[in-house]
Amino acid sequence: MKKLILIACLCGCLTIAKAQQLKSPDGKLTMTFALEDGGKPRYSLVYKNKDVIKPSKLGLELKDDKKSLLSDFTVTDTKTSSFDENWKPVWGEVKTIRNHYNELAVTLTQKETNRIMIIRFRMFNEGLGFRYEFPAQKNLTYFIVKEEKTQFAMAGDHTAFWIAGDYDTQEYDYTTSKLSEIRSLAAKNRKENLSQTSFSPTGVQTSLMMKTSNGLYINLHEAALINYACMHLNLDDKNMIFESWLTPDVKGDKGYMQAPANSPWRTVMVSDDARDILASKMTYNLNDPGKIEDTSWIKPIKYVGVWWEMITGKSTWAYTDEYPSVQLGITDYSKARPNGKHGANTTNVKKYIDFAAKNGFGGVLVEGWNEGWEDWYGHSKDYVFDFVTPYPDFNVSEIRDYAKSKGIKMIMHHETSGSVRNYERHIDTAYKFMKANGYDAVKSGYVGNILPRGENHYSQWLINHYQYALEKAAEYKIMVNAHEAVRPTGIARTYPNLIGNESARGTEYQAFGGSKPNHVTVLPFTRLIGGPMDYTPGIFEMDISKLNPANHSHVNSTIANQLALYLTMYSPLQMAADLPENYERFPDAFQFIKDVAVDWDDSQYLEAEPGQYITVARMAKGTGQWFAGSVNGDNSRISNISFSFLAPGRTYEATIYADAKDAHYKTNPQAYTVRKVLVTNKSKLAQLCAPGGGYAISFKIANQATVKGLKKL
Ligand code: NOJ
Ligand code: CA
Repeated sequence: MKKLILIACLCGCLTIAKAQQLKSPDGKLTMTFALEDGGKPRYSLVYKNKDVIKPSKLGLELKDDKKSLLSDFTVTDTKTSSFDENWKPVWGEVKTIRNHYNELAVTLTQKETNRIMIIRFRMFNEGLGFRYEFPAQKNLTYFIVKEEKTQFAMAGDHTAFWIAGDYDTQEYDYTTSKLSEIRSLAAKNRKENLSQTSFSPTGVQTSLMMKTSNGLYINLHEAALINYACMHLNLDDKNMIFESWLTPDVKGDKGYMQAPANSPWRTVMVSDDARDILASKMTYNLNDPGKIEDTSWIKPIKYVGVWWEMITGKSTWAYTDEYPSVQLGITDYSKARPNGKHGANTTNVKKYIDFAAKNGFGGVLVEGWNEGWEDWYGHSKDYVFDFVTPYPDFNVSEIRDYAKSKGIKMIMHHETSGSVRNYERHIDTAYKFMKANGYDAVKSGYVGNILPRGENHYSQWLINHYQYALEKAAEYKIMVNAHEAVRPTGIARTYPNLIGNESARGTEYQAFGGSKPNHVTVLPFTRLIGGPMDYTPGIFEMDISKLNPANHSHVNSTIANQLALYLTMYSPLQMAADLPENYERFPDAFQFIKDVAVDWDDSQYLEAEPGQYITVARMAKGTGQWFAGSVNGDNSRISNISFSFLAPGRTYEATIYADAKDAHYKTNPQAYTVRKVLVTNKSKLAQLCAPGGGYAISFKIANQATVKGLKKL
C-alpha cells in the first residue's frame, strides 16, 4: 500500500513539474495545463492574480466499447507559438480586427490505446480559447461522443445573466441571479415556447455572462461551431463547476466524428472592465478567415417589412380563414375566400416599397407571401411550404419590377416550420426563384419542432443543416438571416453572407406579452458575443392594442431606448420594425432611424454594466460620421460620457434624442426630447435616462450658419 501511495505521489509530482503555462500577450492572463494522477488533463486560468477557472477537467466520453478520452494520457509533444495579424471584416463594428494570441498545443497519447488527442489553447488579451483535435490516426477514426466533459470550475457563487438550458430555443428573458439560485429559478425562466426541451434544472445556455464579487466579468461561450453539437453548460451547484452538455440527436448521441476532426473552441473571456467583453473580437478570431472570394454582393442594409402587423395580430400570414388545413398542390386557393387581413398583398407591399424609397431604406421584407400558412405550425407537417408558390394576391413579377423601379431590394422569407428535410428538398429551386425575382437576402425560420421528428434545433445534424443552407446560399450570392437557428459562434468571419441570426428573444416578444426592460442591456453580453442579431428595433407605438384591440401586450421600452438600439445592438442588418403610420406620427424621432448608419469603421464602448446600461459611439463606414447610443435598465440614471472620440479641433452639431424627464418604459414611453447643441471632443454630457430608456445622438460637422444659431453643450 505504502509503495502504491509513493508511486502515485511521484507521478503527481512529476506531472506538476511538467505543468505547462500559457500567458496572454499582455501578460495579464495565465493558463496552466497539467496531467494529474491517472493521466487526466486539467487546466486553470488566472487573471491579474485572481482565479477565473479553478483546476478543471478536460476530455470526452465515448460511446460503445471505445475507451473514453478522459484519462491515461501522457504528454508526447508540446508546441508553443505566437500570432499577430490584422484583418478586415466585410462588415462590422470596426474597420480592422487584430488577431493576436499566444498558442500552446499539447499532444496527448493515451496509454494502451495509443490514441492521440491534441488540446490547442489560444490565449488572447481578452481570454482563452481551446479545442480538442483528433488527427488522422489508425486507432481513432470513427467514434461517437457520448458527452464532452469540459469543465469550467468557478471560483465563487458569481452573479450570472442566464437563460435556462434548452435543446430547442433561446427565446427566453434573462434571469440575473447567483449561480446557487439557478436551480430554484430555472422553471420560472423557461416560459412557454413553440418548441422547447430542457435537460437539467441547473442547465444554462451560452454565451453565459457572469460577474464576480471581486470585480471580474467572465463570459463562457464557443467559437466555430461546425459539424458538432451546440454546447450547453450544466452546473454542479454544490461545487460551482460548469460542465459541457452537448445537444443530443434523436438517439441521444452527441456527435458522430471521423478523424481528422476537431471540436469547436471553448471560450472564456475575462476582464475587470465590462466594456472589454463587448469590444472583444476573440470569437471571430477563433474562426477561419473568409472563404467567399468575391464579397462585393454582401451589403449591410436597413429595411422595413410586412411583418410587425402580423406579429401584433393586426393582419395575418394566412390568405384565408376558410380552410382548417391546406395541402400544397391540392388546395385550390383561387376558390378560397380571402380573409381580408392578409398582409402580403401586392397593394400593401407597394405601400412599404414606397415608404422604404421615400425614407432611404434599402430593403423590404415580406412574410406570408407563399401558400401554406393556414396550418403552418403545430402539426409537424413534413411538406409544409414549397417556397416558390405565391398566394393569389401576391404578384411576384409586379412587385419585382416595382421594387426595382424604386431602387429597393426585396428580402425573401423562408419559414421552414422546422421541416428541415422539406427545406433541403426545395432549397435549390427556392434560391433560384429568389435570384430570378430580385431577392439577394433571405430570412429563414425554424419555428416548431424539427423534422425529421425527434431532432433538436441545436444537435449536430441541425448544425450541419444551418451550415449547408448558408454555404449553398453563398454559391447563389445570397445573404442569410436565420431565425430560431443555433446562436452564432463567429462563423460570419468565414461566411460573411451570414448577416444576421435571431436565436434569442427579439422584439417580437414585446407583442407576445413583453420582455424585461433591461433585456437589451444583457443581450450584447450574451447573444451578441457570437455575431449580430436581427433584433428588429424601432417600435414607436408601445400599446399594442392600438394596432390590434385583441392584443394587450406592452412594449417595455421608451422611444429613445428604441433609437439607441441601432447602436447598442450591432448588426449589419437593421430593421425599422414598426408600421409606417406610427413613424409618420413621430417624424422628428424617426429622423434618427433614417440617418443612422449600419456599417462602421470604429466603435468605442463608453459605459457598460450587464443588466444595467450600455453606451457606445460608432463611426460610420467611409463617411467618418459619428453616432452614439445608450440603453438603460430598470432604474433611472445619469449617463456621464465624454465626446473625446470626436476629431480634435472641430465643432460638431449634435442632435440628442433623449427621454423626457417624466419618461418611463411602462407609464410614459413616448415622452422624448430632441435638442441640437454644439460640441467638440472636449465636451462632456450628463444625460438622464429613464427606466427602460436611453438616448441616441447623431453628430455632424457644424457649418457657419449652425455655429451661430446653436448653443454649446
Ligand atoms: C418567428 C420569427 O422570429 C418571426 O420573425 C417570424 O415572423 C415568424 N417566426 C414567422 O416566420
Ligand atoms: Ca423567433
